[in-house]
Amino acid sequence: MSDQLTIRRPDDWHLHLRDGAMLQGVLPETTRHFARAIIMPNLVPPVVTLADARAYHGRIMAALPPGAEFEPLMTLYLTENTDPGDVAAAHASGLVKAVKLYPAGATTNSASGVSNLDAVRPVLERMAEIGLPLCVHGEVTDPSVDIFDREAVFIDRVLDPLRRAVPGLRVVMEHITTADGVEYARSGGDDLGATITTHHLMINRNHMLVGGIRPHYYCLPVVKRARHQRALRAAATSGEARFFLGTDSAPHNDPAKESACGCAGVFSATNTMSCLAYVFEEEGALERLEAFASLNGPAFYGLPPNEARITMTRGQPVDYPAKIETGAGPVTVFDPGHPLLWAVSDAPV
Ligand code: NCD
Ligand code: ZN
Repeated sequence: MSDQLTIRRPDDWHLHLRDGAMLQGVLPETTRHFARAIIMPNLVPPVVTLADARAYHGRIMAALPPGAEFEPLMTLYLTENTDPGDVAAAHASGLVKAVKLYPAGATTNSASGVSNLDAVRPVLERMAEIGLPLCVHGEVTDPSVDIFDREAVFIDRVLDPLRRAVPGLRVVMEHITTADGVEYARSGGDDLGATITTHHLMINRNHMLVGGIRPHYYCLPVVKRARHQRALRAAATSGEARFFLGTDSAPHNDPAKESACGCAGVFSATNTMSCLAYVFEEEGALERLEAFASLNGPAFYGLPPNEARITMTRGQPVDYPAKIETGAGPVTVFDPGHPLLWAVSDAPV
């Protein structure tokens, strides 16, 4: 087995960068390895209009580490007041690559999300016409639905009817966490994609809950049982074009995570590539890491893959910090619970 792997530079198709001091602190963790990322719009207040996206894009560019080559791919946060004309202008500008649907109340900073899908139908129809993808946080918020079932119920109650109601709409099922999500993604044509996070490939709910509760493993959608983790691993390592990397790296400072009511979000930007190489090696699929991390995402979004390459080398356990210090406080890096052996040994910047 070779101990070196050279692949096209990866992209992250689901990333939270936040703003201000947190943005400044976490951005280098992504730009070190990744060329582009779909930037989630769930700021407070959210990134709703083209004007908001332009301003946020400017703040990200201003926060880039010197010499970094990184393109933030902006998204708009869909609300019941979103103007289809503004969405079309955002698409035409080239700056905005997707619109994000958060069911109201489903996750961190989703209070301005959508409660009534009929209210956003004109926006979705316009998006289908112009080919702008909808990124979907796929969980129902019905309090009577068990949190471990919210993804599967969302697919039946919301996602499938929505896709039938707006034919031609390009949809990304964001951060799928279940065998049900995998199965539904496979039922679609090339208008349906699905992102998978690094941590959902590495942990299941036992890792989070057995022997003590581990707040740094808590995210939404919450990690599920091992059978679902296995389905996600099979999907990610299959090479199928519909599955691609979206880390959902979502920084919260340690006090916000280590709390009686801790925030949802796993911060994995720092060691994601090492984690993925570990998983793909374990699954005997290292030769398909490039498809998952560097090829399938751009193909779905109609963008060329990156020309630059990164090289990963297998050797001594990779040295990475347990936490990073930011101006917004310390942020704990995802700990897979065992050493990682693949390091990014050469990246363009
Ligand atoms: C995300 C966040 O913190 O913004 N949290 C998470 O657990 N994934 C929101 C999200 O993507 O659901
Ligand atoms: Zn997210």
